[in-house]
Amino acid sequence: MSNTTSSLTTSPNTRILNKKTFSVLLTQTEIETKIRDLASLLNHDYADKNPILLVILNGAFRFSADLVRYINIDVEIQFLRLASYQGTESMGEIKQILGLTTPLRDRHVIILEDIVDTGLTAHQVWQDLQAQQPASLALMTLLLKPDALQMPVECTYIGFSIPNMFVVGYGLDFDQKGREWNDIYVCL
Ligand code: XMP
Ligand code: MG
Repeated sequence: MSNTTSSLTTSPNTRILNKKTFSVLLTQTEIETKIRDLASLLNHDYADKNPILLVILNGAFRFSADLVRYINIDVEIQFLRLASYQGTESMGEIKQILGLTTPLRDRHVIILEDIVDTGLTAHQVWQDLQAQQPASLALMTLLLKPDALQMPVECTYIGFSIPNMFVVGYGLDFDQKGREWNDIYVCL
């Protein structure tokens, strides 16, 4: 079979994708260590609370899969998608939550995100879920770009604060590519 991939490894720390160069920002080892720490926090904070983990697809698929390997309390896991639809111009882009099948009222809920960038998505998801009157609501994001935030977002648990640059890998994509990379790369 011929090799048709456009992802080319030019050095262990650099990759080229669609003519853009990416270099490693966070290694697989750093990510794994952080994920163990984040799981420990959940194990401690949610013991006997049977929380619902709401995984925001697609980006958080990998983060959540690795996180639950270190969870040792009872949890329920649900996978959500956000579908964009046109609101009024003043409201900007509105995102609708798809895939929620369990009532959240009086439940402890933790949103799992890959990245909070402008914060628009997380802000809206938070508002929509809060309206369902959960017992508690928390947001765990693997990555946060503090300098890109445009909305108030309460990130209860943060993996890494990163510079305001486009990142790819470990679930995050560039035109659907790079999700399988084990490290997180930054676009130079
Ligand atoms: P915000 O916080 O701006 O983020 O509403 C919305 C979604 O956009 C994606 N996103 C990224 N994806 N590299 C990516 O691959 C990035 O640097 C990046 N910044 C934002 C992500 O899905 C996030 O949930
Ligand atoms: Mg996302």
